[in-house]
Amino acid sequence: MRLSINIDHIATLRNARGGNVPDLTEAALICEHAGADGIVCHLREDRRHIRDNDVKVLRKNISTKLDLEMAAIPEIINTALQIKPDLVTLVPEKRQELTTEGGLDVFRLQSSLKKCILQFHERGILVSLFVDPLRKQIEAAKKINADMIEIHTGEYVNAKSEESKKKHIERICKMAIFGRQIGLGVNAGHGLNYENIRPIAKIKEIEEVSIGHAIIVRAISVGLELAVREMIMLVKR
Ligand code: PXP
Repeated sequence: MRLSINIDHIATLRNARGGNVPDLTEAALICEHAGADGIVCHLREDRRHIRDNDVKVLRKNISTKLDLEMAAIPEIINTALQIKPDLVTLVPEKRQELTTEGGLDVFRLQSSLKKCILQFHERGILVSLFVDPLRKQIEAAKKINADMIEIHTGEYVNAKSEESKKKHIERICKMAIFGRQIGLGVNAGHGLNYENIRPIAKIKEIEEVSIGHAIIVRAISVGLELAVREMIMLVKR
């Protein structure tokens, strides 16, 4: 299973002070150096973290794979067509949400998504659709020529009881198998962390996971002590 890292939260931190630290490209290169298989960023309509220029700079500087998460809206589609990431992952987007809240309703949006997918294919860009683990949505993704799906793991990660988690894992597993059977690539993501990743990692039909928040949070835990020690050295010299 491959791992792609979503670096949106590095941009959130950078934007808090208006400068260029932490540097997004440096962060992406650290992820690649550590063995990540790809870099993911979400260019939101409100540009709350990633900005257009970030995507351009990442495109030029990373050597793995750039996955641009985005809503299928004309302005962002045009930007993506110009920048040419390796892959776009189409997600639903609401201005008020803290993070992506659910899968795309591919079944309902078939005709507009089909046109959008065609535009990307004409530019040689692969398209993944972020969907809930539902047969109807996955069938629709195949029908409109998506290359792959990213199964939304949100309900699994938010499940309260062990029994409920097990049910969600079974469903994700079943839908991953179904997706592969009908010829789609299958990725998964959302809310995955160091505690809940194992059952997902066991599903061999899932080829890649996309993880952001948990890794950036963990970086603070494992890096804060060293950062303090380095400053103490300077302050007390
Ligand atoms: N996949 C998709 C489609 C997402 O929207 C997000 C959040 O930006 C992720 C994966 C990563 O989620 P998390 O930050 O919870 O790991």
